[in-house]
This record gives sequence, structure tokens and C-alpha cells, in this order.
Amino acid sequence: MLSYIMTNIKEQLEKALGHTITESNIAGVDYQCNAAFAIAKKEGAKPSDVATKIIAKVKPNLRPCFSTHPSGFININVLDKDLSELTEFVLKTNKLPLSTQKPRTIFFDYGGANVAKELHAGHIRPPIIGEALKRTFTAFGHKTFADPHLGDWGLQIGLIFGELELKYKEPSKFPKLTIEMLNVLYPQASKRKSEDKKFHARAEELTLKLQRSEEPWFTKWKEIMDVSVPRIKENYDALGCTFDTFEGEYKAQQFIPKIIADFQKKKVVQESDGCIIMDVKTDSDTRPMPPIIISKSNGGDLYSTTDIGTIFYRQKENNPDEHVYITDFRQDLHFEQVFRAVKKGGLVKPEVVFTHIGHGTMLGKDGKPFKTRSGDTVKLEDVINLVTDAAHKKMQNPCLVSAKTIGIAALKFADLSNSVRKDYVFDLDRFTSFEGKTGPYLLYTIARINSILSKTEKEIQTNNTKSPLLRDIKVAVMRLGDSFDVATRVYSLNGVIDATYNLASKFNILYANETIQNNAESIRVARLTRTALCFALDILAIDTVEKM
Ligand code: ARG
Repeated sequence: MLSYIMTNIKEQLEKALGHTITESNIAGVDYQCNAAFAIAKKEGAKPSDVATKIIAKVKPNLRPCFSTHPSGFININVLDKDLSELTEFVLKTNKLPLSTQKPRTIFFDYGGANVAKELHAGHIRPPIIGEALKRTFTAFGHKTFADPHLGDWGLQIGLIFGELELKYKEPSKFPKLTIEMLNVLYPQASKRKSEDKKFHARAEELTLKLQRSEEPWFTKWKEIMDVSVPRIKENYDALGCTFDTFEGEYKAQQFIPKIIADFQKKKVVQESDGCIIMDVKTDSDTRPMPPIIISKSNGGDLYSTTDIGTIFYRQKENNPDEHVYITDFRQDLHFEQVFRAVKKGGLVKPEVVFTHIGHGTMLGKDGKPFKTRSGDTVKLEDVINLVTDAAHKKMQNPCLVSAKTIGIAALKFADLSNSVRKDYVFDLDRFTSFEGKTGPYLLYTIARINSILSKTEKEIQTNNTKSPLLRDIKVAVMRLGDSFDVATRVYSLNGVIDATYNLASKFNILYANETIQNNAESIRVARLTRTALCFALDILAIDTVEKM
């Protein structure tokens, strides 16, 4: 007989059946397996007969109850004994039993803030999704690295220089920069860029001077970095991001000349209108796949160039088996080109995996990217203030520190509950509601359990009940563990969000129907729920509060 302690029940079952199983929506059935269908089709047999045979074969080695659904599905029910073991495991280790995965090294690139301006709503999704994904993979025992890859070496800097030049004539007269000044300068410069060709050209020129490390521009760039990077760090800290390194495009440029020379030697690039380009199209492409421009005619670096250089040094320093990027899905083509280029150029081994997670946009109620009423970008700080205020207003005993935690939980939970690629509307009232599938509801459930457990006496005399509600909760805990496994395959956490909500609502049904305080098993299940929810929220980088 198998013991499930330290293992994941679903994984054990799949191993024994040699086939995947899925959660069942049928009341009273925990999992279903459709292994019989393919075999039945091949053998021209009845699926339910094949299912019966499969059950007979695996049954002696497995504890759960099996039955055949007339359609041919194998219904699986986990034994109560196993759910008790699962409970014991969770309470003893403060962890959910996750499935085993072959440990790999994975490099996560998320954040991508541009140093020319403060972090704004448009950059809010990568740190939320990226941090949660990274922690998920870490929980499975993978070795992970994370870096925000700041936008610090492109036209955005040339634009700031150009704007300063217009205002103050020459670099020696530039004032000492502050973040507030950058917040005004950058939008002005980008507006000017689209209206004034000469200004655009000058900004390009200044960018090139910087990329050639010409003075005084290089020193001026460092001044921008000195005011901007600490603020970006503060912003990412507020979102609970934990980066291993804090590099940007700049770091890559030192490797670029050698990489290009190497590409030229390997004859994988060619010249076109003075640019160096690489053809990355394959015969099987069904959508347009233009060549990637590796070097501009003026010798300047491009976004793609620095990404190629970055992969080169990450491979050298961290040797990842996989690189995962989280950016807006409008960068799909850019990443596909970059991934193909580094493989074609032989910068990485063919087996290195590249994954780009393209996310949708956070929209305002008008269906357009989230902006202020006057059309300006909304700073991350302002978004955090909005959710904090809304949470504060809804609290019974308002407290600002907790309101901020609840507000950020509302924001992150809402963001992660969408499948990554989808756009979603920033709905402040719904996100911060204490009821429904929201962050505050989850935090409220945990606070409720805290309160129950603090009032519980040590020795509970009452007999244990065997309420089916208790079993439902244990199954919900089991499924929460399974949902993480799915997340590592689809690179999206919406299934985990659903599973946390499912568990919290199952617990709240128990709370509404029974007095938990004086029942030993209910108390145990309350602890189980809290431990499982805290474990999951910690992976999602969602902080909790003691009371609400
Ligand atoms: N700075 C970029 C942007 O604002 C995002 C960077 C993403 N990471 C990367 N390696 N390209 O869109």
C-alpha cells in the first residue's frame, strides 16, 4: 500500500494509472480518469469494460475507491484515511504536498521598469505575475533567479537629455535631478518626440552618444540612475518582489561587440542598409517573421541587441535551463525573434528553453489602458493609495497599515485571477470587496480563523462530528496543492486563485453551519485551512493580516 505522507495524492494516482487524472465536478467524486477511451477506440471495445479492466489491474496497489461511470470514465474517491494523512502532513510541515518535478534552474525576467520615469500602472502586471510564478517554481524545488531588466539604455534616456538641453541649453547648466523632475520631463519629451522630428532626431543622437559612453552624457545618465533606481526598488519592495540581481539593459552592452563579431564569423548575420540583421524565419512559419535587427546603421544598440547580450551573460553567470520573461503580449514578436536569434547564433545550447508570458492590459472603466481622468499615466504609488483607501473605508476597525496590506492583496488577487493574456478592468469597488472572489475575502477568512483559534480552549471534550463539510474542506486543500502543479505547466496562477477561493468558501460554509469552537475535528480543519491558505498566499506573494 502506498503512503501519501510527503507526497501528492494526485501524483501517486497518476503514476499508478500511467495516465493523467482531472478533478471531477460530480458531487461525491474527487477525480476522474479518461484512460479507457483511447484504448477502447483502438481495440473496438466498450469504454466502460476497459475502465473496469484498468481498475482491476491497479486496485491491488492503490487505496482509493474506484468505480466505473457508465460512460467509461473511471471515478476515483480518495479515502478519508488518506485525507487525514494529508491533514497531518500539512499541519506538521506547514506546507502543501506538491508533486515532484525534476529540479531545473530557471531565470525569471519581470518588472522591466524604465528608469526615465516612475513606475506606473502599465508596468504593474509583470512584477505581480512574475513574483508569484517565480515563487511557485521555487516551491517545487527549482533553483530560480530573478532580475527586473530595467529599461536604462535606450531612447528614453536620450529623450530626457533632449528635453533638458532645450530647457537649460548645455549639460553644465542642467540642474540636479529629482524623481519629480523626471516625472514631468519624460512625458513632455515623449509628447515632443511625436510632434517634432528635429527633437526626435536629436534625442536619437544623444542616445547614441550615451551608448558610446561619451561624456558628459555618461555621467548625466548615472545621475538619472541615482535618482530613479532607488525609487524603482521602493516600488518593487511595496509589491513584495524579491530580485536576486537588479540589472538593466546597460549591463549587456559590454558583451555586444564580441557577440556580433561571433555572429559574423559564423555567417548567421548579414548587412542590410547599413544595419546588421539576422534572418530568423523558418519554413513552418505561418505568420510574418521579419529579420531581427541586431545593430542599427549608426551602430547604436537596440532593445533586441541588449536582450541578446543579456541572455549571453545570464547563461554564463547562472546557466539556466529555462529563461522566463513576463511582459505585455505586444512584445510577443520581439521575444520570438530574440529566442530564435540566440539559438541560431549558438549563444545557448539547443536544449535551453525560452518562455515568454505575454500579459494583457489593466484597463480603466472606459475600456482603455488605466489612466487618470486627465489622461496621464497613473503612478504605481497612486494605484496603491487607491486600493489602500478603498480597503480602509470598508474595515470595521480601520487601521492604515492593515489597509495597505489588504489593498495590495485586493490588487494582486484580482490581477492573478485573470488568465494572464486577458485584459481586465480595474474595478476598485469589486477588487476591495470583503465578499466574493477577492483578496480581502481570503484575508478575512484567515483573520476569522485566527479569531476562532484564539478563543479555543486547549482541551475540547465534545465528540468529533463527521460532517461532510469537513471532508469537502480537506478535498479543497488537496486540490489547492494540485492547482500549483497546473500553474507550473500553464504559467498562469488563475487556477490557484480559484482553488484558494474554493477552500475559503468551503470553510465559511462550515463556519455558517456549525459551532467550530467546541469540536476537535473542526478546530483541526480550521487550522488546516489557515495553514493551506497562508502557504498558498505566501507563494502568490500576497501578505495577510492578523485581524480585520
Ligand atoms: N523595459 C521593457 C518595457 O518597458 C520591459 C523589459 C522586459 N524584459 C526584457 N528582457 N526585455 O517594455
